[in-house]
Amino acid sequence: MKGQKDSKIISIVNQKGGVGKTTTTMNLATALCAMKRKVLVVDLDPQSNSTSGLGIYNDSFKATSYNFILGQEPLDKVAISTPIPNLSIIPATMDLSGAEVELASIEKKEFYLKNALQEATQKFDYILIDCPPSLGLLTVNALAASHEVLIPLQCEYFALEGLSHLIKTIETINVSINTGLKIRGIVLTMYDSRNNLSKMINDDVRKYYGKLVYNTVIPRNVRVSEAPSHGYPVLVYDPNCVGSKAYIDLASEVILQERQKV
Ligand SMILES: Nc1ncnc2c1ncn2[C@@H]1O[C@H](COP(=O)(O)OP(=O)(O)OP(=O)(O)O)[C@@H](O)[C@H]1O
Ligand SMILES: [Mg+2]
Repeated sequence: MKGQKDSKIISIVNQKGGVGKTTTTMNLATALCAMKRKVLVVDLDPQSNSTSGLGIYNDSFKATSYNFILGQEPLDKVAISTPIPNLSIIPATMDLSGAEVELASIEKKEFYLKNALQEATQKFDYILIDCPPSLGLLTVNALAASHEVLIPLQCEYFALEGLSHLIKTIETINVSINTGLKIRGIVLTMYDSRNNLSKMINDDVRKYYGKLVYNTVIPRNVRVSEAPSHGYPVLVYDPNCVGSKAYIDLASEVILQERQKV
């Protein structure tokens, strides 16, 4: 754990639905905690999948990321601990979809999450923001608040088209809202080694995006998809399955990136 905390804030973003954003957020967070980092997950998706996926249900919290982003409740009222040691979460509910509407007419609407998170940056090593499948105001708030973006990319046909659109959006944010924002990396998810399309996408992404692509590839693994229904990340549900091992490797790469930058 770092001595003087100065969180790295990473948004997990892809406007395409169902590509593994939530799965990556939960499992990367858990793997980082296993490596003695203190992590906060911000559930910024009204679907609230990372909240329920971490075994947190509506009766165990009073305030949510909706209250947090709107500045109604401070960190210590919204961040709750999870069954995973060192892992806290700011949970979400469906109400969060209302925040997008409420923020729309407010001045400096892009910076509400950034302002709300100020205090958290002294308390965690990593803050991972699980974004919704859109490039709307919630995601823009996440990008404005973040140092870096991690993009899960599902190994399927339209993945690359969506990726170039996403990268253009990040470049726009770079110019106007957050000049320091960097793409931390692209991680291929749901890779099926028996499937030629998976291999093709893997080759293409590495050809076009080179070093931006993590060496680690997350395989399609049934244990990964079963885990959330039990309220656990796969790393807790079945630590020895191939999906868990891949997320440990991803966390190691993320930590290594940090060291290489120093
Ligand atoms: N490596 C994997 N192997 C098998 N299933 C997976 C894997 N990764 C994710 N899934 C499953 O794919 C589905 C979509 O994953 P996930 O919810 O993480 O995507 P998402 O990008 O967060 O979706 P949304 O855009 O709706 O928020 C889920 O049912 C999840 O359990
Ligand atoms: Mg999700």
